[in-house]
Amino acid sequence: MNLANRDLITIEDLSNQEIEMVFALADEMSGSLYQQTDMCRGMIMASLFFEPSTRTRLSFEAAMNRLGGRVISVVEMSNTSLAKGESIADMARVVGSYADIIVIRHPWEGAAKVVADYAGVPVINAGDGGHEHPTQTLCDLYTLKKERRTLEGLKIALWGDLKYGRTVHSLAYALARFGATIHFRPSPGFEMPEHVIRKLTAEYAGRLERYNGVEYVDEKGLFPLDAVYITPSGPHQLANIPDVGIQIELERGVDALYVTRLQKERLDTTVEGQESEKNHRVVDRKLLKEKGFEETIVMHPLPRVDELAYEVDADPRSMYFKQAERGVPIRMALIALLLGAKEVDIPEEKGPSFARKRDYRVYKRSTRLRCRNRKCVTNQETETRYIKPEFEIVSNEPLTLRCVYCEHEIHPQYIASSKWHQGIAENKRYYYADSFMLGRIQQENLIIFDSEDEALARGFKLGKRGSRG
Ligand code: NCD
Repeated sequence: MNLANRDLITIEDLSNQEIEMVFALADEMSGSLYQQTDMCRGMIMASLFFEPSTRTRLSFEAAMNRLGGRVISVVEMSNTSLAKGESIADMARVVGSYADIIVIRHPWEGAAKVVADYAGVPVINAGDGGHEHPTQTLCDLYTLKKERRTLEGLKIALWGDLKYGRTVHSLAYALARFGATIHFRPSPGFEMPEHVIRKLTAEYAGRLERYNGVEYVDEKGLFPLDAVYITPSGPHQLANIPDVGIQIELERGVDALYVTRLQKERLDTTVEGQESEKNHRVVDRKLLKEKGFEETIVMHPLPRVDELAYEVDADPRSMYFKQAERGVPIRMALIALLLGAKEVDIPEEKGPSFARKRDYRVYKRSTRLRCRNRKCVTNQETETRYIKPEFEIVSNEPLTLRCVYCEHEIHPQYIASSKWHQGIAENKRYYYADSFMLGRIQQENLIIFDSEDEALARGFKLGKRGSRG
Protein backbone atom coordinates (compact mmCIF):
# COMPACT_ATOMS: atom_id res chain seq x y z
CA MET A 1 0.00 0.00 0.00
CA ASN A 2 1.35 3.31 -1.02
CA LEU A 3 0.38 6.91 -0.37
CA ALA A 4 2.97 8.50 -2.65
CA ASN A 5 1.89 11.64 -4.48
CA ARG A 6 -1.46 11.87 -2.74
CA ASP A 7 -2.95 14.95 -1.07
CA LEU A 8 -4.51 15.16 2.36
CA ILE A 9 -7.22 17.81 2.17
CA THR A 10 -10.00 16.23 4.19
CA ILE A 11 -9.81 13.27 6.55
CA GLU A 12 -11.88 11.38 3.99
CA ASP A 13 -8.85 11.30 1.72
CA LEU A 14 -7.52 8.46 3.91
CA SER A 15 -9.22 5.11 4.42
CA ASN A 16 -9.25 3.53 7.89
CA GLN A 17 -6.51 1.23 6.76
CA GLU A 18 -4.36 4.08 5.51
CA ILE A 19 -4.82 5.85 8.84
CA GLU A 20 -3.59 2.70 10.57
CA MET A 21 -0.65 2.69 8.18
CA VAL A 22 0.31 6.24 9.19
CA PHE A 23 0.11 5.12 12.84
CA ALA A 24 2.29 2.08 12.24
CA LEU A 25 4.97 4.26 10.71
CA ALA A 26 4.57 6.92 13.42
CA ASP A 27 5.29 4.20 16.00
CA GLU A 28 8.47 3.40 14.13
CA MET A 29 9.36 7.09 13.88
CA SER A 30 8.84 7.78 17.57
CA GLY A 31 11.33 5.05 18.39
CA SER A 32 14.05 6.88 16.50
CA LEU A 33 12.87 10.44 16.88
CA TYR A 34 16.16 11.80 18.11
CA GLN A 35 18.31 10.11 15.51
CA GLN A 36 18.32 12.24 12.43
CA THR A 37 17.32 10.10 9.47
CA ASP A 38 18.01 10.82 5.83
CA MET A 39 14.74 9.41 4.58
CA CYS A 40 13.82 12.71 2.91
CA ARG A 41 17.29 14.08 2.25
CA GLY A 42 17.35 16.40 -0.75
CA MET A 43 13.63 17.13 -0.52
CA ILE A 44 12.00 20.45 0.27
CA MET A 45 8.78 21.11 2.14
CA ALA A 46 7.07 24.49 1.64
CA SER A 47 5.25 25.54 4.76
CA LEU A 48 2.68 28.24 4.00
CA PHE A 49 0.86 29.52 7.07
CA PHE A 50 -1.56 32.37 6.46
CA GLU A 51 -3.18 32.05 9.88
CA PRO A 52 -1.51 31.92 13.30
CA SER A 53 -0.01 28.59 14.31
CA THR A 54 2.46 27.25 16.84
CA ARG A 55 2.04 23.49 17.09
CA THR A 56 0.99 22.62 13.58
CA ARG A 57 3.65 24.65 11.79
CA LEU A 58 6.51 23.84 14.14
CA SER A 59 5.67 20.15 14.32
CA PHE A 60 5.53 19.92 10.52
CA GLU A 61 8.84 21.75 10.23
CA ALA A 62 10.44 19.71 13.02
CA ALA A 63 9.17 16.55 11.30
CA MET A 64 10.73 17.47 7.94
CA ASN A 65 13.98 18.43 9.65
CA ARG A 66 14.08 15.12 11.50
CA LEU A 67 13.56 13.32 8.19
CA GLY A 68 16.66 15.04 6.82
CA GLY A 69 14.72 17.29 4.44
CA ARG A 70 14.63 21.08 4.23
CA VAL A 71 11.93 23.63 4.80
CA ILE A 72 11.04 26.90 3.09
CA SER A 73 8.27 28.89 4.69
CA VAL A 74 5.91 31.82 4.62
CA VAL A 75 4.11 32.87 7.75
CA GLU A 76 2.06 35.87 6.70
CA MET A 77 -0.05 36.70 3.75
CA SER A 78 1.23 40.28 3.80
CA ASN A 79 4.71 39.01 2.94
CA THR A 80 3.60 37.28 -0.24
CA SER A 81 2.25 38.27 -3.63
CA LEU A 82 -1.21 37.30 -2.39
CA ALA A 83 -1.16 40.78 -0.84
CA LYS A 84 -0.68 42.16 -4.37
CA GLY A 85 -3.83 40.40 -5.55
CA GLU A 86 -2.28 37.16 -6.79
CA SER A 87 -4.61 34.17 -6.77
CA ILE A 88 -3.82 31.14 -4.65
CA ALA A 89 -3.85 29.02 -7.81
CA ASP A 90 -0.94 31.00 -9.28
CA MET A 91 0.88 30.88 -5.95
CA ALA A 92 0.36 27.10 -5.82
CA ARG A 93 1.79 26.59 -9.32
CA VAL A 94 4.90 28.54 -8.45
CA VAL A 95 5.48 27.02 -5.00
CA GLY A 96 4.88 23.58 -6.51
CA SER A 97 7.85 24.19 -8.77
CA TYR A 98 10.10 25.06 -5.80
CA ALA A 99 9.11 22.35 -3.33
CA ASP A 100 8.39 18.62 -3.26
CA ILE A 101 5.49 18.90 -0.83
CA ILE A 102 3.32 21.79 0.41
CA VAL A 103 1.69 22.28 3.79
CA ILE A 104 -0.88 25.06 3.80
CA ARG A 105 -3.02 26.79 6.43
CA HIS A 106 -5.39 29.42 5.13
CA PRO A 107 -8.47 31.26 6.46
CA TRP A 108 -10.59 30.56 3.37
CA GLU A 109 -12.57 27.33 3.40
CA GLY A 110 -11.59 25.17 0.44
CA ALA A 111 -8.27 26.99 -0.10
CA ALA A 112 -6.22 23.82 0.45
CA LYS A 113 -8.19 22.03 -2.26
CA VAL A 114 -7.42 24.83 -4.73
CA VAL A 115 -3.72 24.60 -3.87
CA ALA A 116 -3.85 20.82 -4.40
CA ASP A 117 -5.64 21.29 -7.74
CA TYR A 118 -2.82 23.49 -9.05
CA ALA A 119 0.43 22.62 -7.26
CA GLY A 120 1.38 19.37 -8.99
CA VAL A 121 3.01 18.10 -5.77
CA PRO A 122 1.40 16.55 -2.66
CA VAL A 123 -0.49 19.09 -0.57
CA ILE A 124 -1.42 18.77 3.11
CA ASN A 125 -4.24 20.83 4.58
CA ALA A 126 -3.07 22.26 7.89
CA GLY A 127 -6.45 23.94 8.45
CA ASP A 128 -8.69 25.80 5.97
CA GLY A 129 -10.86 28.22 7.90
CA GLY A 130 -13.62 26.45 9.81
CA HIS A 131 -13.71 23.54 7.37
CA GLU A 132 -11.22 20.77 8.25
CA HIS A 133 -7.90 20.03 9.93
CA PRO A 134 -7.13 16.42 9.03
CA THR A 135 -3.63 16.16 10.50
CA GLN A 136 -4.90 17.28 13.90
CA THR A 137 -7.38 14.42 13.63
CA LEU A 138 -4.52 12.01 12.99
CA CYS A 139 -2.86 13.23 16.22
CA ASP A 140 -6.20 12.91 18.06
CA LEU A 141 -6.92 9.39 16.82
CA TYR A 142 -3.36 8.31 17.50
CA THR A 143 -3.76 9.50 21.09
CA LEU A 144 -7.11 7.74 21.45
CA LYS A 145 -5.58 4.57 20.12
CA LYS A 146 -2.62 4.76 22.49
CA GLU A 147 -4.73 5.56 25.53
CA ARG A 148 -7.81 3.44 24.82
CA ARG A 149 -5.99 0.67 22.91
CA THR A 150 -8.62 0.67 20.16
CA LEU A 151 -10.42 3.05 17.88
CA GLU A 152 -13.47 0.88 17.52
CA GLY A 153 -16.73 1.76 19.19
CA LEU A 154 -15.54 4.61 21.42
CA LYS A 155 -17.82 7.07 23.15
CA ILE A 156 -16.59 10.61 22.71
CA ALA A 157 -18.06 13.91 23.85
CA LEU A 158 -17.18 16.96 21.73
CA TRP A 159 -17.27 20.15 23.77
CA GLY A 160 -17.18 23.87 22.98
CA ASP A 161 -17.24 25.55 19.59
CA LEU A 162 -18.47 22.85 17.26
CA LYS A 163 -19.61 25.41 14.69
CA TYR A 164 -16.33 27.05 13.73
CA GLY A 165 -13.88 24.50 15.16
CA ARG A 166 -12.37 22.70 12.18
CA THR A 167 -10.70 20.04 14.31
CA VAL A 168 -14.04 18.68 15.52
CA HIS A 169 -15.40 18.44 11.99
CA SER A 170 -12.55 16.23 10.77
CA LEU A 171 -12.58 14.30 14.04
CA ALA A 172 -16.31 13.59 13.92
CA TYR A 173 -16.03 12.07 10.43
CA ALA A 174 -13.09 9.92 11.45
CA LEU A 175 -14.69 8.76 14.70
CA ALA A 176 -17.83 7.87 12.81
CA ARG A 177 -15.83 5.67 10.46
CA PHE A 178 -14.49 3.75 13.41
CA GLY A 179 -17.99 3.24 14.76
CA ALA A 180 -18.02 5.73 17.63
CA THR A 181 -20.89 7.22 19.53
CA ILE A 182 -20.43 10.96 19.45
CA HIS A 183 -22.06 13.26 21.96
CA PHE A 184 -22.21 16.93 21.11
CA ARG A 185 -21.94 19.40 23.92
CA PRO A 186 -21.63 22.71 22.09
CA SER A 187 -21.61 26.08 23.77
CA PRO A 188 -25.12 27.37 23.01
CA GLY A 189 -25.14 28.96 19.57
CA PHE A 190 -22.09 26.97 18.49
CA GLU A 191 -23.74 23.71 17.48
CA MET A 192 -22.33 21.29 14.94
CA PRO A 193 -23.29 22.62 11.48
CA GLU A 194 -26.19 20.90 9.78
CA HIS A 195 -24.08 19.86 6.79
CA VAL A 196 -21.71 17.97 9.11
CA ILE A 197 -24.59 16.23 10.89
CA ARG A 198 -26.15 15.33 7.56
CA LYS A 199 -22.95 13.73 6.38
CA LEU A 200 -22.55 11.80 9.62
CA THR A 201 -26.04 10.42 9.37
CA ALA A 202 -26.37 9.97 5.60
CA GLU A 203 -22.88 8.78 4.75
CA TYR A 204 -21.65 7.13 7.90
CA ALA A 205 -24.91 5.47 8.81
CA GLY A 206 -25.27 7.51 11.97
CA ARG A 207 -28.51 7.90 13.81
CA LEU A 208 -29.12 11.31 15.29
CA GLU A 209 -30.93 11.78 18.57
CA ARG A 210 -31.76 15.34 19.37
CA TYR A 211 -31.87 16.48 22.94
CA ASN A 212 -32.81 20.09 22.82
CA GLY A 213 -32.88 20.79 26.51
CA VAL A 214 -36.59 20.10 26.75
CA GLU A 215 -36.49 16.40 26.17
CA TYR A 216 -33.39 15.75 28.16
CA VAL A 217 -31.32 17.84 30.52
CA ASP A 218 -29.49 16.12 33.32
CA GLU A 219 -29.93 17.60 36.75
CA LYS A 220 -26.62 19.44 36.61
CA GLY A 221 -27.45 20.99 33.27
CA LEU A 222 -24.31 19.43 31.90
CA PHE A 223 -25.71 17.59 28.98
CA PRO A 224 -28.40 19.24 27.01
CA LEU A 225 -26.95 17.73 23.89
CA ASP A 226 -27.42 15.85 20.71
CA ALA A 227 -25.87 12.53 19.99
CA VAL A 228 -25.03 10.59 16.89
CA TYR A 229 -24.82 6.84 17.19
CA ILE A 230 -22.82 5.19 14.52
CA THR A 231 -22.99 1.58 13.58
CA PRO A 232 -19.91 0.36 11.76
CA SER A 233 -21.90 -2.21 9.84
CA GLY A 234 -23.63 0.01 7.36
CA PRO A 235 -27.01 1.62 6.85
CA HIS A 236 -29.03 -1.59 6.54
CA GLN A 237 -28.47 -2.34 10.20
CA LEU A 238 -29.68 0.99 11.45
CA ALA A 239 -33.12 -0.29 12.21
CA ASN A 240 -31.64 -2.88 14.57
CA ILE A 241 -30.01 -0.47 16.95
CA PRO A 242 -31.67 -0.66 20.31
CA ASP A 243 -33.07 2.59 21.54
CA VAL A 244 -30.45 3.59 24.05
CA GLY A 245 -31.29 6.50 26.28
CA ILE A 246 -28.69 9.17 26.54
CA GLN A 247 -28.71 8.97 30.31
CA ILE A 248 -27.90 5.27 30.27
CA GLU A 249 -25.25 5.92 27.65
CA LEU A 250 -23.54 8.55 29.74
CA GLU A 251 -23.69 6.47 32.87
CA ARG A 252 -21.67 3.84 31.07
CA GLY A 253 -18.93 6.39 30.86
CA VAL A 254 -17.38 8.62 28.24
CA ASP A 255 -14.02 7.49 26.82
CA ALA A 256 -12.83 10.97 25.97
CA LEU A 257 -13.96 14.53 26.41
CA TYR A 258 -12.65 16.63 23.51
CA VAL A 259 -12.61 20.29 24.49
CA THR A 260 -12.27 23.18 22.04
CA ARG A 261 -11.87 26.91 22.46
CA LEU A 262 -14.23 29.47 20.99
CA GLN A 263 -12.84 30.30 17.52
CA LYS A 264 -13.09 34.06 18.10
CA GLU A 265 -11.34 34.88 14.84
CA ARG A 266 -14.15 33.25 12.88
CA LEU A 267 -17.23 34.67 14.60
CA ASP A 268 -19.74 36.14 12.21
CA THR A 269 -21.08 38.88 14.45
CA THR A 270 -20.17 40.55 17.72
CA VAL A 271 -23.47 39.18 19.06
CA GLU A 272 -22.06 35.68 18.64
CA GLY A 273 -19.12 36.70 20.80
CA GLN A 274 -21.28 38.13 23.56
CA GLU A 275 -23.56 35.11 23.55
CA SER A 276 -20.72 32.69 23.90
CA GLU A 277 -19.15 34.59 26.80
CA LYS A 278 -22.42 34.28 28.67
CA ASN A 279 -22.83 30.56 28.23
CA HIS A 280 -19.36 29.49 28.84
CA ARG A 281 -18.87 26.29 30.81
CA VAL A 282 -15.36 25.49 31.91
CA VAL A 283 -14.00 21.95 32.07
CA ASP A 284 -12.44 21.64 35.52
CA ARG A 285 -11.66 19.09 38.21
CA LYS A 286 -15.18 19.26 39.55
CA LEU A 287 -16.70 18.33 36.23
CA LEU A 288 -14.34 15.38 35.91
CA LYS A 289 -15.66 14.00 39.20
CA GLU A 290 -19.15 13.65 37.72
CA LYS A 291 -20.63 10.26 37.05
CA GLY A 292 -19.60 8.96 33.66
CA PHE A 293 -16.35 10.92 33.67
CA GLU A 294 -14.34 8.89 36.16
CA GLU A 295 -12.28 7.23 33.42
CA THR A 296 -12.60 9.93 30.80
CA ILE A 297 -9.46 11.24 29.17
CA VAL A 298 -9.42 14.97 28.43
CA MET A 299 -8.28 16.06 25.01
CA HIS A 300 -7.85 19.48 23.41
CA PRO A 301 -6.17 20.44 20.11
CA LEU A 302 -4.71 23.52 21.86
CA PRO A 303 -4.30 26.44 22.15
CA ARG A 304 -6.47 26.61 25.27
CA VAL A 305 -7.84 29.92 26.45
CA ASP A 306 -10.19 29.65 29.42
CA GLU A 307 -12.46 26.73 28.56
CA LEU A 308 -10.17 24.21 30.28
CA ALA A 309 -8.88 24.90 33.79
CA TYR A 310 -5.13 24.67 34.41
CA GLU A 311 -5.84 22.53 37.48
CA VAL A 312 -6.70 19.64 35.11
CA ASP A 313 -3.09 19.54 33.84
CA ALA A 314 -1.92 17.60 36.86
CA ASP A 315 -4.61 14.96 36.37
CA PRO A 316 -3.26 11.83 34.66
CA ARG A 317 -6.33 11.83 32.45
CA SER A 318 -5.23 15.04 30.72
CA MET A 319 -3.85 14.20 27.28
CA TYR A 320 -3.54 17.49 25.42
CA PHE A 321 0.20 17.93 25.72
CA LYS A 322 0.70 14.34 24.62
CA GLN A 323 -1.54 15.00 21.62
CA ALA A 324 0.71 17.92 20.66
CA GLU A 325 3.89 15.92 21.25
CA ARG A 326 2.66 13.10 19.06
CA GLY A 327 2.29 15.61 16.23
CA VAL A 328 5.94 15.17 15.27
CA PRO A 329 6.06 11.38 14.65
CA ILE A 330 2.62 11.52 13.02
CA ARG A 331 3.70 14.26 10.64
CA MET A 332 7.04 12.56 9.97
CA ALA A 333 5.13 9.43 8.95
CA LEU A 334 2.72 11.38 6.78
CA ILE A 335 5.39 13.39 4.97
CA ALA A 336 7.51 10.29 4.33
CA LEU A 337 4.50 8.40 2.94
CA LEU A 338 3.24 11.20 0.69
CA LEU A 339 6.75 11.80 -0.64
CA GLY A 340 7.06 8.10 -1.41
CA ALA A 341 10.17 7.96 0.78
CA LYS A 342 8.68 5.03 2.70
CA GLU A 343 6.16 2.28 2.12
CA VAL A 344 4.44 0.30 4.82
CA ASP A 345 2.80 -3.09 4.59
CA ILE A 346 -0.20 -3.55 6.75
CA PRO A 347 -2.63 -6.46 6.71
CA GLU A 348 -5.93 -6.21 4.86
CA GLU A 349 -8.68 -4.43 6.72
CA LYS A 350 -10.68 -6.68 8.98
CA GLY A 351 -14.43 -6.36 9.17
CA PRO A 352 -16.67 -3.89 7.41
CA SER A 353 -15.32 -0.60 6.28
CA PHE A 354 -16.91 2.58 5.01
CA ALA A 355 -16.24 3.73 1.50
CA ARG A 356 -13.89 6.68 1.41
CA LYS A 357 -16.19 8.98 -0.43
CA ARG A 358 -19.56 8.64 -2.01
CA ASP A 359 -19.64 9.27 -5.70
CA TYR A 360 -22.27 11.91 -6.06
CA ARG A 361 -23.03 13.56 -9.35
CA VAL A 362 -21.24 16.85 -9.66
CA TYR A 363 -23.20 19.86 -10.89
CA LYS A 364 -20.94 22.34 -12.63
CA ARG A 365 -23.18 23.93 -15.20
CA SER A 366 -22.40 27.58 -15.43
CA THR A 367 -25.37 29.34 -13.82
CA ARG A 368 -25.36 31.98 -11.14
CA LEU A 369 -25.55 29.32 -8.47
CA ARG A 370 -23.11 30.20 -5.71
CA CYS A 371 -22.02 28.79 -2.41
CA ARG A 372 -23.63 30.84 0.39
CA ASN A 373 -20.64 30.54 2.70
CA ARG A 374 -18.89 33.87 2.45
CA LYS A 375 -15.71 32.31 3.80
CA CYS A 376 -15.65 29.82 0.94
CA VAL A 377 -12.71 30.18 -1.44
CA THR A 378 -15.16 30.39 -4.36
CA ASN A 379 -16.48 33.69 -2.99
CA GLN A 380 -13.17 35.54 -2.76
CA GLU A 381 -12.54 38.30 -5.27
CA THR A 382 -9.11 37.10 -6.35
CA GLU A 383 -10.36 33.56 -6.90
CA THR A 384 -13.67 34.14 -8.73
CA ARG A 385 -11.65 34.90 -11.90
CA TYR A 386 -10.90 31.24 -12.42
CA ILE A 387 -12.80 29.00 -9.96
CA LYS A 388 -16.13 27.79 -11.28
CA PRO A 389 -18.43 26.77 -8.43
CA GLU A 390 -19.09 23.03 -8.37
CA PHE A 391 -21.56 21.13 -6.24
CA GLU A 392 -22.29 17.52 -5.43
CA ILE A 393 -25.98 16.71 -5.62
CA VAL A 394 -26.26 14.96 -2.28
CA SER A 395 -30.04 14.67 -2.08
CA ASN A 396 -33.16 15.18 -4.16
CA GLU A 397 -35.52 15.46 -1.20
CA PRO A 398 -35.14 18.33 -0.78
CA LEU A 399 -32.73 19.23 -3.55
CA THR A 400 -29.43 19.65 -1.70
CA LEU A 401 -26.16 20.71 -3.27
CA ARG A 402 -22.85 20.50 -1.44
CA CYS A 403 -20.04 22.87 -2.43
CA VAL A 404 -17.05 20.72 -3.41
CA TYR A 405 -14.68 23.27 -1.83
CA CYS A 406 -16.11 24.09 1.62
CA GLU A 407 -18.91 21.47 1.84
CA HIS A 408 -21.57 23.94 2.91
CA GLU A 409 -24.94 23.07 1.45
CA ILE A 410 -27.52 25.03 -0.52
CA HIS A 411 -31.14 24.22 -1.29
CA PRO A 412 -31.98 25.86 -4.62
CA GLN A 413 -35.67 26.35 -5.35
CA TYR A 414 -35.90 26.31 -9.15
CA ILE A 415 -34.97 23.83 -11.86
CA ALA A 416 -35.35 23.30 -15.58
CA SER A 417 -34.27 20.95 -18.33
CA SER A 418 -31.78 22.01 -20.99
CA LYS A 419 -33.75 19.86 -23.46
CA TRP A 420 -36.89 21.83 -23.90
CA HIS A 421 -39.70 20.65 -26.08
CA GLN A 422 -38.86 20.54 -29.81
CA GLY A 423 -36.16 23.16 -29.35
CA ILE A 424 -38.72 25.96 -29.48
CA ALA A 425 -37.85 28.87 -27.19
CA GLU A 426 -41.54 29.22 -26.28
CA ASN A 427 -41.35 25.82 -24.60
CA LYS A 428 -38.64 26.76 -22.11
CA ARG A 429 -40.16 26.01 -18.71
CA TYR A 430 -38.84 26.12 -15.18
CA TYR A 431 -40.25 24.28 -12.17
CA TYR A 432 -40.10 24.24 -8.42
CA ALA A 433 -37.30 22.02 -7.19
CA ASP A 434 -39.69 20.28 -4.79
CA SER A 435 -42.08 19.28 -7.58
CA PHE A 436 -42.16 15.86 -9.19
CA MET A 437 -40.34 17.34 -12.20
CA LEU A 438 -37.01 16.98 -10.41
CA GLY A 439 -37.33 13.22 -10.81
CA ARG A 440 -38.31 13.57 -14.47
CA ILE A 441 -35.36 15.61 -15.69
CA GLN A 442 -32.32 13.58 -16.63
CA GLN A 443 -29.29 14.50 -14.57
CA GLU A 444 -27.23 15.54 -17.58
CA ASN A 445 -29.97 17.98 -18.66
CA LEU A 446 -30.64 19.44 -15.23
CA ILE A 447 -30.35 23.22 -14.87
CA ILE A 448 -30.56 24.63 -11.36
CA PHE A 449 -31.37 28.29 -10.73
CA ASP A 450 -30.44 30.34 -7.73
CA SER A 451 -33.57 32.48 -8.06
CA GLU A 452 -36.76 32.86 -10.01
CA ASP A 453 -35.35 36.06 -11.53
CA GLU A 454 -32.47 34.12 -13.01
CA ALA A 455 -34.84 31.62 -14.63
CA LEU A 456 -36.94 34.45 -16.07
CA ALA A 457 -33.87 36.34 -17.27
CA ARG A 458 -32.80 33.25 -19.17
CA GLY A 459 -36.09 33.08 -20.98
CA PHE A 460 -37.82 30.35 -18.94
CA LYS A 461 -41.47 30.57 -17.86
CA LEU A 462 -43.04 28.76 -14.92
CA GLY A 463 -44.31 25.37 -16.10
CA LYS A 464 -47.73 24.18 -15.00
CA ARG A 465 -46.56 20.69 -14.14
CA GLY A 466 -43.92 21.92 -11.79
CA SER A 467 -46.08 23.15 -8.97
CA ARG A 468 -44.92 22.51 -5.44
CA GLY A 469 -44.75 18.88 -4.40
C1 NCD B 1 -6.41 24.17 16.20
C2 NCD B 1 -6.63 24.87 14.88
O1 NCD B 1 -5.77 25.60 14.40
O2 NCD B 1 -7.70 24.65 14.32
N1 NCD B 1 -5.08 24.27 16.65
C3 NCD B 1 -4.17 23.34 16.26
O3 NCD B 1 -3.86 23.21 15.09
N2 NCD B 1 -3.67 22.54 17.17
C4 NCD B 1 -7.41 24.54 17.22
C5 NCD B 1 -7.60 25.98 17.58
O4 NCD B 1 -6.94 26.88 17.04
O5 NCD B 1 -8.42 26.23 18.46
